[in-house]
Amino acid sequence: MTQNSVKRMIQQYRCPIIVFAKKSINSRYFGLGSNCLLKLPYYKTINFVTLSNISSNMTRENVREKVALIGSGNWGTVISKIIGNNVMRYKEFHQEVKMWVFEEKVGGRNLTELINEKHENVKYLPGFPIPENVKALPDLSEVVRDATVLVFCIPHQFVPKTCDQLKGKINPKAKAISLVKGFETDETGIRPMSHAISESLNIPVCSLSGANIANEIAEEHFSETTIGYNNLEEGELFKKLFETKYFRVGIIDDVVGVQLCGALKNVIAIGAGFVDGLKLGENAKAAIIRIGFFEMKQFMKKFYGGIKDETFFESCGIADVIATCYGGRNRKVAEKFVTTGKSFDQLEEELLNGQKLQGTLTVKEIHRVLSSKGINDEFKLFTTIYRIAFEGLPPKSIVENID
Ligand SMILES: NC(=O)c1ccc[n+]([C@@H]2O[C@H](COP(=O)([O-])OP(=O)(O)OC[C@H]3O[C@@H](n4cnc5c(N)ncnc54)[C@H](O)[C@@H]3O)[C@@H](O)[C@H]2O)c1
Repeated sequence: MTQNSVKRMIQQYRCPIIVFAKKSINSRYFGLGSNCLLKLPYYKTINFVTLSNISSNMTRENVREKVALIGSGNWGTVISKIIGNNVMRYKEFHQEVKMWVFEEKVGGRNLTELINEKHENVKYLPGFPIPENVKALPDLSEVVRDATVLVFCIPHQFVPKTCDQLKGKINPKAKAISLVKGFETDETGIRPMSHAISESLNIPVCSLSGANIANEIAEEHFSETTIGYNNLEEGELFKKLFETKYFRVGIIDDVVGVQLCGALKNVIAIGAGFVDGLKLGENAKAAIIRIGFFEMKQFMKKFYGGIKDETFFESCGIADVIATCYGGRNRKVAEKFVTTGKSFDQLEEELLNGQKLQGTLTVKEIHRVLSSKGINDEFKLFTTIYRIAFEGLPPKSIVENID
């Protein structure tokens, strides 16, 4: 290596450290050493590494992924803990994570200030520490500036507006992953969140979904999740960003399948909640889960070709259906819907402390699509759940209207 090429390397990487080279642990320092250094006196000697290591370390340094987390609700906050710790573990990532917080007042103070001061999201995940390298910010543009990895974790109804705000502000080479459970609909069918984000921002988008009840993962209880990837390299990078000992990541090349399972299982969970409210027991609930799982699969295959059968047996599939039908917020609120007679909007307000109930929105969206295609009869359970939730059909129809 010539003196000029060393100079170029130093300038390119803006690094003040190029020193000696050694061929291997056992050989003596040679070559480049003192001659270069004498002529580059302002560069300090701090380390002994091989030139190939210097160059590859610097290249990695130069392309370190900067992670922006868009969202800070219950799940978003758990994710901030996971990725905040993981960016410290791997050289592929820059060590700070910027987290967008939809600003609100808590006890008269801004939530962002409280998070940055206490390193805890006192509203959406009280009692669990957030790593200090996670910085909460209310300004979306500032969060995504220079970011190369965007992690979307907001309720799906807020995705379109958030993407509009991001247009023209993101790094064109950025890639994203959507943890959002939900999709958009129109008369012609459904649009997965990954497509909505990708089309709006013109970047590739992977998906992550699984049997992941946020508070259990905050407690570091074991769980699995699934990442759907477009290309293996991205899948592996995201696995690195998310996997921990207690949060095991599987990857599969089915971006759409992974996220649609995550959206549709909320509908089944509402059906399971009705059964719980009616106290019909575990056999009836298992039947609703089985039929719901079948309709979920039919629905996805009808609207999207290319969804893999294997996806339904990953964490994002059957495992998430089970977890949500036993533990999730949609099940809980649907049970109360039956036992109190209150509306879902009222129960969301009373029971969830700002968290969003996505299942009821998804129930409406599915019904809209099925009605516009005139195929409600092919999805009797989904249709019955809609009619109980929004058209006053008695809850016991859940087991009367299905084949
Ligand atoms: N909580 C879980 O157990 C869990 C697990 C897996 C996936 N998810 C999914 O993750 C996504 C995020 O859910 P969560 O649990 O982090 O959120 P959440 O329901 O706990 O909180 C709602 C969030 O929305 C924000 N918000 C309110 N109004 C907004 C607006 N106008 N624009 C943007 N944001 C606004 C709130 O500040 C808050 O951060 C959802 O799609 C959810 O289905 C949740």
